[in-house]
Amino acid sequence: MVQQSRPSADGISRRAVVRTGLAVGAGTISAGLLANIPALAKPASGGLTPGDAAILRFLAAAEILETDFWQQYNELGGIQDSEVPGGSGSAKYTAALAVLDSDMAQYIHDNTEDEFTHFTFIDAYLAANGVAPVNLDQFRTLPSSKATGARQIGRLTNLMELTVDTSWWTRYRSRTKNPDFGDTFPQAIPGLSAGRFPAIPRNDGDLSPKAHLQAIANTAGFHFASIEQGGSSLYPSLAQRVTHPEVLRILLSIGPTETMHFQTWMDKAGNAPPLTDPTNGLVFPDLNASPFGGEDFQTNLIMPEPTIFLSRKFPPVSIIRPTETQGAAMSAVKFLTASGLFRGQSPAFFAVLGQLAEDADAARRGG
Ligand SMILES: [Fe+2]
Repeated sequence: MVQQSRPSADGISRRAVVRTGLAVGAGTISAGLLANIPALAKPASGGLTPGDAAILRFLAAAEILETDFWQQYNELGGIQDSEVPGGSGSAKYTAALAVLDSDMAQYIHDNTEDEFTHFTFIDAYLAANGVAPVNLDQFRTLPSSKATGARQIGRLTNLMELTVDTSWWTRYRSRTKNPDFGDTFPQAIPGLSAGRFPAIPRNDGDLSPKAHLQAIANTAGFHFASIEQGGSSLYPSLAQRVTHPEVLRILLSIGPTETMHFQTWMDKAGNAPPLTDPTNGLVFPDLNASPFGGEDFQTNLIMPEPTIFLSRKFPPVSIIRPTETQGAAMSAVKFLTASGLFRGQSPAFFAVLGQLAEDADAARRGG
């Protein structure tokens, strides 16, 4: 039964890989690579199935997109060096970020480098197995910040009109709820989830007044964690549907680094000073005071509270949440899109990203 179903599933997935590779555009897939795709069942490393290829290709795309916006953060608020080149920094933005932690610039630098290595590794692994690596260069069309310190190049992502979901804050503090059970969670910073706010200075005019620039740095602080909690869920969600142990090893080795990022950023977001942005009314409340405070909001709770998992008949357990595997890739695309990260992107961009997600979500263990 299983063996009968495999050729069919492989055939569908292989076509999906080919279609997606072509959709990504010229320069990303050569005739040679195309010719190699029928041999996917027996690649050099011993068994990269079309499903594994589709999951890795989606993750490569996600990592490319992460890298693109982390680079924008690093150019203005990180450390510009040979490991993470580009930009020359914004002293005032860097100082506003440092209000959250004096090591923010270093952490931004290191997170940026990590994401760069994630997509570079996954693309190299794909290529070594005869699968088209992912290249989104044709979609680097969005404008850069005009603030002094930013490079003036085309971007894949937009950090200047973000709508940041901060419900991860209460999700990881809940002892009774789990998004995989359909539960929803209140926002830590309700204002951030309802409007459009810059997470980097859009131009030098954003460097004052001081509370406005601090609101931008606070927005970045919450966006960092919002993104990295997504990665923390995405890898275990997709790992449940990979086939080859080596591909599983890749997902299990990269995924927890996203969680290392997440916990760091959760800690730093808790240091964002309460304030109201005088230019747009955005409020960062005191999360330790009424009506906030308590287990759902208290800022020094940076480790997951135990909660329900799999079935309510089991005792609460400290876990990553969500980890539902069905539709996980498309959920990630929807989450990122809703955050405004792709505002201004072309329909072709969304078509390619959606196809990569669809193919990843079609992957099944053993196929
Ligand atoms: Fe990553």
